[in-house]
This record gives sequence, C-alpha cells and structure tokens, in this order.
Amino acid sequence: MRKQWTAMLLASTLILSLTGCGAPSEDQQGEEGQSEQMQVETEDTQENEDQNAGNNSGNVLVAYFSWADNAVLEEDVDAVSSPSVIPPGNVQQLAGWVQDETGGDLFSIRVTDPYPSDWDACLERANEERDEDARPELVENVENIDQYDTVFLGYPNWWYGVPMALLSFFEENDLSGKQVYLFCSHGTGGLANSVEIITEAVPDAEISDSIFDCYEEDASSSEEGIRQWVQELGYSGVQGGNMGQNTENTQGNNLSLQIGDTVLTAALEDNSSVQALREMLADGPLVIDMEDYADMEKVGSLGQDLPTNDEQITTEAGDLILYQGNSFVIYYAPNSWNFTRLGKINDVSGEELREILGDGDVSVTLSLTE
Ligand SMILES: Cc1cc2nc3c(=O)[nH]c(=O)nc-3n(C[C@H](O)[C@H](O)[C@H](O)COP(=O)(O)O)c2cc1C
Repeated sequence: MRKQWTAMLLASTLILSLTGCGAPSEDQQGEEGQSEQMQVETEDTQENEDQNAGNNSGNVLVAYFSWADNAVLEEDVDAVSSPSVIPPGNVQQLAGWVQDETGGDLFSIRVTDPYPSDWDACLERANEERDEDARPELVENVENIDQYDTVFLGYPNWWYGVPMALLSFFEENDLSGKQVYLFCSHGTGGLANSVEIITEAVPDAEISDSIFDCYEEDASSSEEGIRQWVQELGYSGVQGGNMGQNTENTQGNNLSLQIGDTVLTAALEDNSSVQALREMLADGPLVIDMEDYADMEKVGSLGQDLPTNDEQITTEAGDLILYQGNSFVIYYAPNSWNFTRLGKINDVSGEELREILGDGDVSVTLSLTE
C-alpha cells in the first residue's frame, strides 16, 4: 500500500511547484535504498505504545513522531479512498529498537488533533500545516526534560522536511545543550531539508552528523542496522534498560570516545582516578566540549574533581590525561608534565588523531565499553 506514495507525492509535488510552494532540489537526492544500514527481521513494537517518558529513569530520551501514533485508526477500510496508515509506524519501529538498545525513555510526540488515516487526506493536511508554518498542539510534553543529556530524535520526512509537530515539540521541550542523534524514515526524497530545519529550530543543541536513515520499505528490516548505529555511538545499554549491561559498563576496561562520526577506543589505566571516572560514566555517556591547546592537545572540563595520581609523564599520541583533577586531555603530540594517566587510545598516530579531532573546538562523547 505504502509503495504507491512516491507516485502520489510526485504528482502533488508537481502541483506544488506549479503553485509556487516549491520543492527544494535536494529532495531528489536520496533514491531508493539510500541507507546501507538495513537487515534482519522485524519485531512487534506495539508494546511501545503509551510508554511515554517518565516510566524509566536515566538520561537518554528517545523521542519520535510517527504517523501511526498520530492518526485516527479506521476500523472500516472502505471509508478511506487511498492507502491508509498501517501500524506499527516506520519511525515507531525504529524508535522501539533505539529505546531497547539504549535503555532510554521513550516519548511519542503526539498531536491533540490526529491526522486522517487516509493517505491523500493526511498529505493534504500536512501540506496545509507546512504552508501556514503551523505549530500543531501536542498531547503532552516530556516530563522534566532537564534530566536528559542525550536525545535520540526520530521522525519521518514530511513534505521535504519534518512534520510541523516536531517544531511544536522543539518550542515546548528545550533541547539546548543536549547531544542529539537523528534517525529518519523516508520515501524516495531521503532526508531532504529535514536536518537543516531541525538544526535551525534547535541552534543550541549538539546535533551529531551521524544520522541513521532508511527508506520506508526497509524500516521493518532495519533492526540490526539501527542497533549497530546505537552501538557505534557508544550508547548501547548505557542505562541498563532492557539490555542489562549497566553493571558490565561500570566495570568496562575500555573507554569509547565518539568524535563526530568516528568512534575510538581507549584502554583504561587501573587507578583511583579511572575508578572515579567509571563511576561518573555509569550514569551514561558524558559529552565534553574540548578546545585546542598549544597545538598538542584537546582539553575540556569533566565538570567535577577526580582523585589524582600524578607522575612525571612525557605524552605520546593518544594518551588520555587528567590535568589538575578536573580537566580531561587528549594528547596528539608530546608534552612533559606532572599529571595523571587515564588511558590510551588504541592504534592511532598523532597525525590521524589530529585529523579526527580537527583544528578547533570539538565535542567528545565518553562512554564505557568492554
Ligand atoms: C504527510 C506525509 C508527507 C510525506 N512526505 C514525504 C516527502 O516529502 N519525501 C519522502 O521521501 N517521503 C515522504 N513521506 C513518506 C514518509 O516519510 C515515509 O513513509 C516514512 O517511512 C513514514 O514513517 P512513519 O510510518 O513512522 O510515519 C511522507 C509521508 C506522509 C504521511
């Protein structure tokens, strides 16, 4: 049923461009099969319904919008004239797997006035809302958004962008300062302008370049791909959640450092400073804003004091150092000083590290891993 959407949208697109409402050219960028991240069997995510935030504790929020959660589900299929919404929604399924993998809290963004379950009627209303720059009213907001450091945000491409309810969500739930990971399901339009729209709407959030996206017909077989994406970001089982890995993580011997799209692994030292760092990370990943210093290191605040185990050290590329008890330092060039070893990034040269870290400020996400 959903297959027909492309042709229908194209027809509508033509009308739109003729009437001057305009389709950005980027919309054509993602032809079918854009995502190489899809496989495996689907699972029933009906259980995710109504599991809105507040039921679990922790600092990862998985917020998503999906048509199936926002439609009047018709019993009588004859009442609709074009393809109709079929639960579970694509983004709803993806969100269920992200929630399961991270152990975070699930929040479904829902409007008070549901969309028609009929495809054409839904397209029409969504297009009107887009034209009017509407902010559809939401059923509820996240309870205590301040408790979350990280937000996984899932959405479908709607009219080359995002459902307008996402903009309502941003206005009522402040994501400033949070690490945000986007995942999206879409038709042949790919991500289109969605990332730009979100970035503009939440300028003070840290939006990762690592985005999971899948074609609508591949959503139900994307479980392995999206779980892998979460793992590579270092968020697998960070809250214990359904994965039950929390205990192992607090004892993890390795540290995962996510820098943009790159994830590096470091072996940790065995000292009281590292033990305290482990305890910090047991609550979930830590995002550190780091700046370049003296063309040899990136340095950023841990936000709290750890015990020191200082010794005279001449650093090598990849050394992770605790400076003055509360600064986390990544060295890519040598320096000699009295400070505490935290660990060392595996198999990376100074040149490679310098390239990964870039010239200026960089945001690094730390989490424990086996
Ligand atoms: C109102 C509406 C507008 C859509 N607009 C686009 C679009 O512009 N480009 C595109 O690639 N897909 C578009 N789609 C398709 C959805 O992005 C796609 O089917 C997605 O997988 C739906 O996820 P969901 O089931 O969680 O809502 C649109 C779907 C709807 C309902």
